[in-house]
Amino acid sequence: MRRRCHGESRLGPAWTTVRAVLTALVAAATMGPGAAGAQSLQPAGWDADLRLAEAVDRNPDPDVVEVDFEARVAKVELAPGLQVDAWTYNGTIPGPMIRVKVGDRLIVHFTNNLPRPSTIHWHGLRIPIGMDGVPGYSQDPVQPGETFTYDFVVPDAGIYWYHPHVMSAAQVGFGLYGAFLVEDPAETVGIADDLVLVLSDIDVTEDGKLLPADTGGTVGMLFGREGNQVLVNGRRLPELVVRSGAPQRWRLVNAAKSRYFKLDLGEGNVFRKIGGDGGLTEYSEDHDFIVLGAGERADVLVTPTGDPGGEGLVRSLLHDRGYGSIFGRDFESLVTIRFADDPPYEGDPLPRTSRAMEPYELDGATEIDLELTLQEDPHDQTFAYGINHVPFWKAQPILAGLGETQVWTVTNSTAWSHPLHLHGFFFMVLDDAGDPVRPLEWKDTVDIPHERTVRLAVRFDERPGTWIFHCHILDHADGGLLSAVHLDLPPEDFRNLAEH
Ligand code: C2O
Ligand code: CU
Repeated sequence: MRRRCHGESRLGPAWTTVRAVLTALVAAATMGPGAAGAQSLQPAGWDADLRLAEAVDRNPDPDVVEVDFEARVAKVELAPGLQVDAWTYNGTIPGPMIRVKVGDRLIVHFTNNLPRPSTIHWHGLRIPIGMDGVPGYSQDPVQPGETFTYDFVVPDAGIYWYHPHVMSAAQVGFGLYGAFLVEDPAETVGIADDLVLVLSDIDVTEDGKLLPADTGGTVGMLFGREGNQVLVNGRRLPELVVRSGAPQRWRLVNAAKSRYFKLDLGEGNVFRKIGGDGGLTEYSEDHDFIVLGAGERADVLVTPTGDPGGEGLVRSLLHDRGYGSIFGRDFESLVTIRFADDPPYEGDPLPRTSRAMEPYELDGATEIDLELTLQEDPHDQTFAYGINHVPFWKAQPILAGLGETQVWTVTNSTAWSHPLHLHGFFFMVLDDAGDPVRPLEWKDTVDIPHERTVRLAVRFDERPGTWIFHCHILDHADGGLLSAVHLDLPPEDFRNLAEH
């Protein structure tokens, strides 16, 4: 230490200059995507059709983001000539994207100007229970004309989303959802051209009216209603103008109320998946397709390739999510890719990424068995989904102690798949041998395929409360497939408290 100081002073001002240059170089090399370190390789205006509106931060503090959200009915244009009076945040579908740095404080002044009560739930964020937005469990519904302030620190980088938790299938289906991007300034993926793509659908009539949320009655509820217009960032078949071979980073959110997406970029194009629900995965991995159940996210790198001047498609292929889900149907076109006339990009191949992650210690974990069921009420012959044969209106919560690790064995006995979402906590999915699936990934929503079993491990931290979990096919959740974890002091601590 001392010797270096001595040497430095002898080198004098020249060294000071060199050091400053070195510092700048190192800083540039470690900057995140979209930062000055990486340069756009795409034609100007390449993403004009798809760039999301962002929430306006009205707080001057660089570590506080403070925004105004108004839920209201507004006319939106889904495609040229196709307009609909949708339910929106601030007048757009999706609602404005929230962009924060990990560790920032977020303040959302929410005003409900819808004709019905509502709330906002922050899907995937590990925040205190009072901010979780679920009537009956964590907050009162915000009545029409009323306001509520959400205020919390954002703990994890990654791509998340927000949506109401009142009449969820109806309100999400009518257009209430938005992306929530949490950036990590220390991250070094280094792809400048990035997009957040919110995948969804909406059910509209030919004259631009929303179809009622109970269309199709019980059968509609059992299947899970899909909208008849598939949307990407609120638009039907938007267009992207790209330079063939140039890398892009897409953060994908499935905000549809029921639909699964199975993304396909065409022959020879792969998705390099670098992240999932809760930030980067343990290491990147290439996939031919990306399947997202309702509520799931993925962070992928792509290099669409095609002839300059030609065209490509991002498609969603058929995914078998159970009875009646693929019969007589075809793929959906999501985004038109137009290849610019520029010569193909032939620079560096896509980077590989990694993240230091530790599998959970599962010795001594509490085993919980959950069965996803469909049962008929013997009294009135109505059907309800349930967990262990009871719909949420009759369910008792699972008990968990602060810091407890649980392994859930979730068996789906129904004819339809269920993307199961746990509020407030991440989990790891386990393989058949009971080991965490590699690459490790923090998940908050995982598909439980029809007639199959999935195991997962969750560690409950120090945030007491009653946290719900449910199928993110929102008709299924509204139809009973929802329960809760009551997280409190472990039983021995209750005993200790009683004795003192
Ligand atoms: Cu994304 Cu309970 O929800
Ligand atoms: Cu379901």
